[in-house]
Amino acid sequence: MFKQLLLWTFGTFILLQAIQIDIPEPPKTIDPDKEIQAPKEIMSMLKTSCYDCHSYQTKMPWYGNISPVSLEVKSHIKEGRLAANFQEWGNYDDTKKQKIYKGITKTINFRMPMPMYLTMHEEAKLTQKERNQIKDWAKGHIKKEEY
Ligand code: HEC
Repeated sequence: MFKQLLLWTFGTFILLQAIQIDIPEPPKTIDPDKEIQAPKEIMSMLKTSCYDCHSYQTKMPWYGNISPVSLEVKSHIKEGRLAANFQEWGNYDDTKKQKIYKGITKTINFRMPMPMYLTMHEEAKLTQKERNQIKDWAKGHIKKEEY
């Protein structure tokens, strides 16, 4: 009985591996001039806490290719890059940049970096002070509405 259960579980796991999603391939050449420009401290926080999902420099974890976890991981990378790719910054128009700066001020306290991601990435955790620093930096780029 137990053996059978084990076999079933194992079989299901193997079958699950057939279900995968693909992240679009990054372009062959990535123009370094298109990357967002920010003070060194901010840049380093973005790189350690955001770049896995918001740039082409994704460090894929070992479980990143194991279904069904991979479905979750890869969709975050895909959606994250769509929402904001800091290496595509130079290609964004003003509207998109403003949207992202505003989005950062709104999400930096709770939603970003994604809490689930932080449970697996100790190094990406930000202190409250660091979150405030990022928030202030983004705020500084938000244009006041013109009347
Ligand atoms: C584990 C992947 C992951 C990490 C790490 C991550 N993000 Fe995100 N981010 C996403 C996904 C997925 C979305 C799109 C879905 C959503 O809005 O929740 C997103 C959306 C956003 C948005 C748009 C949200 C809005 O409502 O306008 C901003 C801004 C953002 N992230 C900033 C950041 C910043 C800044 C960091 C680092 C401090 C960060 N993210 C780290 C996955 C991630």
